[in-house]
Amino acid sequence: MATTELVTRATRVKQGSFLAACRGENSGRLPLWVMRQAGRYLPEYQAVREKVSFLELCRSPELVAEVTEQPVRRFGFDAAILFSDILPILEGFGLTLTFPGGGPKIHPQIRTPDDVKKLNEYDVVNKLAFVYAGVREIKKRMPDTPLIGFAGSPWTLACYAVEGSGSANFNSAKEFINRYPGAGRRLLDMITDATSIYLTEQIKAGVDAIQIFDSWGGVLAHDDYRDWSLKYISRIFEAVKGAGVPRILFVNNLAPYIDLVRDIECEVVSVDYRMKLSAAETALPGKALQGNFDPTALFAPADTVAKRVTAMLESVTDLDRLIVNLGHGILPHTPLESVSALVETVHSFRR
Ligand code: CP3
Repeated sequence: MATTELVTRATRVKQGSFLAACRGENSGRLPLWVMRQAGRYLPEYQAVREKVSFLELCRSPELVAEVTEQPVRRFGFDAAILFSDILPILEGFGLTLTFPGGGPKIHPQIRTPDDVKKLNEYDVVNKLAFVYAGVREIKKRMPDTPLIGFAGSPWTLACYAVEGSGSANFNSAKEFINRYPGAGRRLLDMITDATSIYLTEQIKAGVDAIQIFDSWGGVLAHDDYRDWSLKYISRIFEAVKGAGVPRILFVNNLAPYIDLVRDIECEVVSVDYRMKLSAAETALPGKALQGNFDPTALFAPADTVAKRVTAMLESVTDLDRLIVNLGHGILPHTPLESVSALVETVHSFRR
């Protein structure tokens, strides 16, 4: 490919409203994407999943590119998110990941310091090569659409490794770090180092921004959030800083920790649906915001969705640094008309 062509493409991607908003400099229309935008609420995703399992899908660069593109094609979202999952990174340590009947299962569970000692360091570049191949395939098909790469936060991944599955409050992971703080630190260090390489490789393969999903940070006491989650996230953000792509942090239940998040170095904070965007705006000066429509509110009739989305947008003072999104992942069975109402309302919003 000629250098000029590469430069032109990079410029086009950079000028998009999503990346401008990440820098707090968007003067065009409001950018919108939704967490878990490729998934089971889409009939075209279900059609792919009838033929392959979820993990087979994640491991096929062609199919990854296909399902990543589906929601962008259907709704005209302003960014794509790599189709993958936060959990495959755990497999290289010697853990087995399966999705029997929906939710994840990790085997064996980490329950003692000995279990941590048995984990192996591994080659994140080779073992997860299928992810980076997926990124390259997506960029080949959609060079002009900003692509978001992602990883789970070390704490969130440790939650699944200790619990072995999903949980309401991940008490077993909280018990583990209190009973065995040394082994807890070792586990989080290993995940942090692997994740730093993982995201660096995603960036090298072509992603334009990265997001860390701290889905289970919200179960921790305030000071534990600082010491057991944010500390490791900061290390990852520091490791990828030199690449110059926007760094997005999603905390599911941000409000209790907003004073801590204010001080960490990242460009964008993704706000969950529990708190008012205007409160996050005041509490996080200098950061772009992403969020935060309640995913369950999409089950209301389309005209109600449009009204509630408008009210959310009107509550924000500085629209130049807003990326519209949901406050958590879109749910299966979400009516497609509601997603269309969300997209039309955001894209036609003028103040
Ligand atoms: O956002 C996107 O469209 C990109 C794809 C994506 C998936 N998972 C696909 C997926 C992303 C960004 C994730 C992140 C993820 N995975 C998180 C963090 C985000 C959050 O919701 O807080 C977590 C906690 C996981 C772990 C996970 N993966 C669970 C708990 C489950 C089962 C429950 C569920 O939501 O289905 C998965 C499976 C999963 N990951 C599916 C998809 C589309 C469903 C698999 C299927 O097709 O059957």
